[in-house]
Amino acid sequence: MKNILFHRTHTTQDELDAVADAIRSGWLTMGPKVMEFETSFKSYIGAKEAVMVNSATAALHLALKAIGLQRGDEVILPTNTFVATAEVVTYFDAIPVLCDIEYDTHNIDVQKIEALMTERTKAIIPVHFAGQPCDMDEIYTLAKQYNLKVIEDAAHALPSAYKGIRVGSLPSDITCFSFYATKTLSTGEGGMATTNNIDYAKNISINRLHGISKDVWDRYSGGGWEYDIVDNGNKYNSTDINAALGLSQLKKLEWMRDKRADIAKQYDKAFNNKIETLFIKEDRETSYHLYVIKVNNRDELYKILKEKGIGTSVHFIPIHNHSYYKKKYDYKLEDYPVANDVFKKSLSLPIYPDLNEDEVDYIIENVLAYAK
Ligand SMILES: Cc1ncc(COP(=O)(O)O)c(C=O)c1O
Repeated sequence: MKNILFHRTHTTQDELDAVADAIRSGWLTMGPKVMEFETSFKSYIGAKEAVMVNSATAALHLALKAIGLQRGDEVILPTNTFVATAEVVTYFDAIPVLCDIEYDTHNIDVQKIEALMTERTKAIIPVHFAGQPCDMDEIYTLAKQYNLKVIEDAAHALPSAYKGIRVGSLPSDITCFSFYATKTLSTGEGGMATTNNIDYAKNISINRLHGISKDVWDRYSGGGWEYDIVDNGNKYNSTDINAALGLSQLKKLEWMRDKRADIAKQYDKAFNNKIETLFIKEDRETSYHLYVIKVNNRDELYKILKEKGIGTSVHFIPIHNHSYYKKKYDYKLEDYPVANDVFKKSLSLPIYPDLNEDEVDYIIENVLAYAK
């Protein structure tokens, strides 16, 4: 029997050497490697600023802090996301207002956003599900009309593009990426906030390290011992070990995306007219972070594939289904008909560079045999 993991990060001797170098340098926390990774990342993305933190959750939290989110403010986000997107809003005693999604893309349904607006709405967090960018022009139009900030949750969207512009350099206020273990670039744990607004970047940079007026590296590399605490920050900095991994993964980011795209093509061809898959809009480039199918026997298929040695997953249990959120915010199941339908049917198949031809064929064969 095969043992096909749902995900496995592509690493080679490059990553081992990069990490060994970082360790040998004698400086194990945030330092020159973090700065080098930030510089390479912002140049790749085409953003003015990039600030590395230890997760996308931290990036989202600090982004909301940078835009000045206050207690009682409301933030609109899709219900079909990982809990982090909603959780960061609750850190401020602000309210996550959940929006239903589109059936075809599983992204936020921009047609349903306006009805959720109140005078307390402060921001929108679009989530680029599976790597496909949301309808950003429509979101920017609403944001302009209602004077809202836009923070992109781009945890899945590296590298992705909207109308030819790379996610991370679109005219949002701040964009947040994840380098978590299963993501398209992994540093184990990690995240990055990109922005064209220097004040936001400074604010995030200061708050990632306790609100200290200068970085630790600066203090230890001849910058002097004095510092001031200028804000009530967090301990969200990353390390040179993680950044070394990031630098070596960034070099193969597009190669890894092309490998996933090839696998997606094989799935598309095999499932054509037989099994529902995500629809990619013409003016979008996806990272192919996830490959989601929709079937009528999702739970049964999950179990069968597991027995056959194929790891799969479900993205996501909608926020309004989680007991804490349901109880605290009184979300109503009937407000999210599309997300409920999609949640019942969705199953994410393995898609990563190290998946070989035999394994892809085996997955296709079993999905076609048992999906209903
Ligand atoms: C859509 C989305 N947002 C945010 C996150 C949080 O990322 P991190 O684990 O880097 O905090 C994830 C991670 O799974 C995610 O899928």
